[in-house]
Amino acid sequence: MSRFVVNGGRVLCGSVEVQGSKNSALPLLAATILTQGENVLYNCPALSDVDAALRILRFTGCRAEQYRSTVLVSSDSLNRSDIPDELMREMRGSVIFLGALLARFGRAQLGFPGGCELGPRPIDMHLSALRKLGADIRERHGVLDCTAPEGLHGAKLSLSFPSVGATENIILAAVTADGTTTLTNAAREPEICDLCEFLNKSGARIWGAGEGTIVIDGVKELHAVEHTVIPDRIVAATLMSAAAATGSEITLTGVIQSHLGAVISAFDEMGCEIHSSGGELEFKAPSRLSPPQTIRTMPYPGFPTDAQAPLMAATCLCEGTSVFVENIFENRYRHVDELTRLGSDIKVNGRVAVVKGVRRLYGAAVEAQELRGAAGLIVAALAAEGRSEVSGICYLERGYERFEQVLCSLGADVYKV
Ligand code: EPZ
Repeated sequence: MSRFVVNGGRVLCGSVEVQGSKNSALPLLAATILTQGENVLYNCPALSDVDAALRILRFTGCRAEQYRSTVLVSSDSLNRSDIPDELMREMRGSVIFLGALLARFGRAQLGFPGGCELGPRPIDMHLSALRKLGADIRERHGVLDCTAPEGLHGAKLSLSFPSVGATENIILAAVTADGTTTLTNAAREPEICDLCEFLNKSGARIWGAGEGTIVIDGVKELHAVEHTVIPDRIVAATLMSAAAATGSEITLTGVIQSHLGAVISAFDEMGCEIHSSGGELEFKAPSRLSPPQTIRTMPYPGFPTDAQAPLMAATCLCEGTSVFVENIFENRYRHVDELTRLGSDIKVNGRVAVVKGVRRLYGAAVEAQELRGAAGLIVAALAAEGRSEVSGICYLERGYERFEQVLCSLGADVYKV
């Protein structure tokens, strides 16, 4: 299992461009299944999750190639609608292909999705919504066998929780359905807006993306488009956490400040100075961090659950106590034991984590067990005095593109073994 060796305790400096968003690229790749012709996605990050999505597209017969951060996809030659278990198991995001395959093909067979273990990650909201859109879905022996014999039709839908994936699957299933679909309590994440912008460019008729209610008028067909993936707000939050933890001043380019409202507020409360104009964000950490107000992870525009681990790593060094409440996933504190090995003082009780700030962290060997936990451990290792080894880098590479080079370009001493 590959690992990072980090010689921490160094101040970072310099400027770095933030990669394209993993959680936008994945639904956009699924959306190409619905279009005729060759799509071009710019600013698409080179990640193992994106590679897994490209392999799924190729498996179904699409042409899908990535050249650095440009991806070309044509689904004109799509000829099958089943996704084998080994491909499904590679990432949680793979369930996003369900709605698009059903819409395009009228059927889909998928294994239950895999990905990081963040507690039970059901897809009940996805399935009940697709059934209301006309799908017949049978679950047996770990395989979802979905058909839409009469095609999909519009429906009035409401989500009990603004699930990002369920919202995306509903949009992808409804965009070429027969009639109008209204979705209330939809997720409002920027990645939803990016998906709807892509689809509307390709001829779809979608209103209300980014708000609680989305209306979709089904259209007959969609044509391929060129589209630039939005920047990854969680990678931006992670780099801000690294700068905060190491008392650094850095500049991030290619960010969209309005996607980072709750994150910027938290760092502001911690005493960091943040100035942004255009796509540039200047970040300056204080010599000693203050604790933020209680961090409650919430659906967008609340504080993003994916930034919880990186921010927690930075709060380990606050002068005072920080409190986190993880409201989105059941099991998202797996990085806490490993942060403790680096010298932090954190107590977890159910959804609440209490972080008592310490003067310094000390290098140690730690093991990542999921994507954002890996990012948090690297943030802490950058701040820790001495040498750390962070294993489980395969998790990190699901969502962070060339991260050791990014950190080294900011003056960190990190290398991969
Ligand atoms: C997306 O996951 C992101 N993944 C996650 O990022 C992110 O943490 C999450 O949204 C919340 O923002 C991708 O976009 C590929 P949800 P998703 O459906 O769609 C429960 C990362 O690190 N739920 O909003 O799976 C679910 O169990 C990843 O990049 C149901 O109960 O998130 C969870 O507790 C991690 N039934 C909560 O809702 C359902 O049918 C939020 O899930 C669907 C979800």
